[in-house]
Amino acid sequence: MKKKQTKQQEITIKPELLDLLPTKMSIKSPYYYEYDDLLGSIYYLKDLNESQEYGWMQDINSLPLSWTMWLVPIQDQGNILKKLESYDRQIENSLAQRKNQIYATSLQAKQRAIREMVNRMTNNERVFSFSLLFQLAYPIKFNDPAYKEELKNLINELTSKMRLYGFVLDKINFTQDKMLLSYLPLGYLFPATQRITEKYMASWHIATSYPFTKKSLFHKEGVVIGRTVEVQEELEELVVVDRWNPQDPSITNPNMVILGRSGSGKSYATKLYLLREWMQGARIIIIDPEREYNNIARQIGGKIINAGSGEYSINPFEVRDLREYMEDEDRNVDPLSIAKSRTQTILKTLMPNLFYTSYNFVDAQINRLYDQFNIRSGIRNYDIYSTHDYPNIYDFIELVESTPPDDRNYDRDLAVAVAGLSGMEKFFVASEDIEHKLDLHNDHFVIFDIHDLKEQKLELQRAVYFNILTWIWDYIRKDRKEKTILVVDEAWILLDPNSPETLQFLVEMAKRIRKYMGSMWIITQNVNDFFQGRLEESGKAVLGNASFKLLFKQAETDIPRILSLYTLTEKEQELLSILPIGRAIMIAGDNHLYVNVKASPFEERVIQSGK
Ligand SMILES: Nc1ncnc2c1ncn2[C@@H]1O[C@H](COP(=O)(O)OP(=O)(O)OP(=O)(O)O)[C@@H](O)[C@H]1O
Ligand SMILES: [Mg+2]
Repeated sequence: MKKKQTKQQEITIKPELLDLLPTKMSIKSPYYYEYDDLLGSIYYLKDLNESQEYGWMQDINSLPLSWTMWLVPIQDQGNILKKLESYDRQIENSLAQRKNQIYATSLQAKQRAIREMVNRMTNNERVFSFSLLFQLAYPIKFNDPAYKEELKNLINELTSKMRLYGFVLDKINFTQDKMLLSYLPLGYLFPATQRITEKYMASWHIATSYPFTKKSLFHKEGVVIGRTVEVQEELEELVVVDRWNPQDPSITNPNMVILGRSGSGKSYATKLYLLREWMQGARIIIIDPEREYNNIARQIGGKIINAGSGEYSINPFEVRDLREYMEDEDRNVDPLSIAKSRTQTILKTLMPNLFYTSYNFVDAQINRLYDQFNIRSGIRNYDIYSTHDYPNIYDFIELVESTPPDDRNYDRDLAVAVAGLSGMEKFFVASEDIEHKLDLHNDHFVIFDIHDLKEQKLELQRAVYFNILTWIWDYIRKDRKEKTILVVDEAWILLDPNSPETLQFLVEMAKRIRKYMGSMWIITQNVNDFFQGRLEESGKAVLGNASFKLLFKQAETDIPRILSLYTLTEKEQELLSILPIGRAIMIAGDNHLYVNVKASPFEERVIQSGK
């Protein structure tokens, strides 16, 4: 290759590289270079946002430009760690001195980024020096203002796309030659260029910038969620998720919420994933208000409990002492106080017209009742008590009815409300030890079918649902299995805008179930149900904290709420209202995937049987 006598000679590059140089390269101004009929300049990624979104390079690939990415593994990680820690201290000092709020916010963002990096490094993630260079150029021979205009537009578009992610681009004048040579595929990154352009990134960050992904997710083990939806079939990718051991710092729990309007495919997907989890050894427990899972259970030898018939009732007054099975702080709670608060919630749920001023009377009567049965706080061993030693709902009704109007425990409204309990008692009175009767220890697919209650009042459905839920929660902790999935289907039934206790219970369970190797799946049609009146705070917690979210087509009225709960891209926002049946946006920690839920012929037969 012949060298040309141009400014290029001033470039100090290794002699062996000179031969590879483009023949006609020249630097005519500090701002541009010319080569190969192109006039252009190299931009580089200057600032990164601390929370990189997975697949952020995807958007850039739609632009007519090319780029070079340098990944240089850092050998001396300890040195980098020291540097980062010293930056952190500098920022700390600046923050202590500065008053300017805007400046402080950006410093804090930097500090968060540094700390995250330090955290990742101390967790043994590898660190790379990362440089991203863009060539923005147009043909000289068409010395045409239209090209310049086009280039300007391209720069604007690139800059604004990057800004969407909180990233900033820049261009260095006077060193365009070195920038260009670092950009070209010569295998040589100029130290000066590296110094200017490099960012330290951990493996995870590098993974997010991987430009050829189609936002797929493929854990080493786990169940198939579906295939990504692509324009061309051959681009589809399998999505495999391991909720039990995801090895992804953004996935913090195995819980899932499945949201979508009626008929959007929630139950179908749930059944499919349950089947797959079950095949991999998970124990499945479902509360089923729609009698949807019985057919599956029959085919795979599951157990169906008709919990809406009154045959398998659970006495909420019964004290279930789980202290020996519990983890750390859970153990310090008095089991009697748990039984009392459970009973209060159930009785209040059953009497929705009772005004809150009467709630104290409910509590007082419950306390009296336990007293009469000689069950008092501080009991060390509940083993000596049997089902018949505890009060039940009949005793409660009788106590309220026999309280004379001049007694301090008498409340007229409560007396009236209690009369309305008549006919509901049988669902809360256990004739024998329910655990013994159900004998679930060897069952791995268990359904609590409450469909028979469908014709009954909502408050009865709600109270029975809650009663069963509390019992299952205790059971899961007592009879621990390596993996247990608890499915709370038609979760809206549990929600009472006037008493947030049932939802609060769900929040608590969701928080703690992981400790007992469990995963909670909540399925519901309308997210707005979780935000009525006093439910808002717990609703947000329960829907927001699950690491996995499966969003099917949403009712228009629910979309604003979904958008306030989850950060979705524009495309995903659009999808929410037009998703076809069986397609969903899957959020798994930081990962967003557009998936097609598809069963194999065998699975399809199991899922759809009886339809
Ligand atoms: N992934 C899928 N592949 C094929 N068919 C599907 C799929 N998802 C749903 N369907 C079909 O659509 C019907 C309705 O879906 P599904 O019962 O899952 O709705 P849903 O969201 O649970 O509704 P609801 O809230 O009313 O219970 C199913 O019976 C099935 O025939
Ligand atoms: Mg359904």
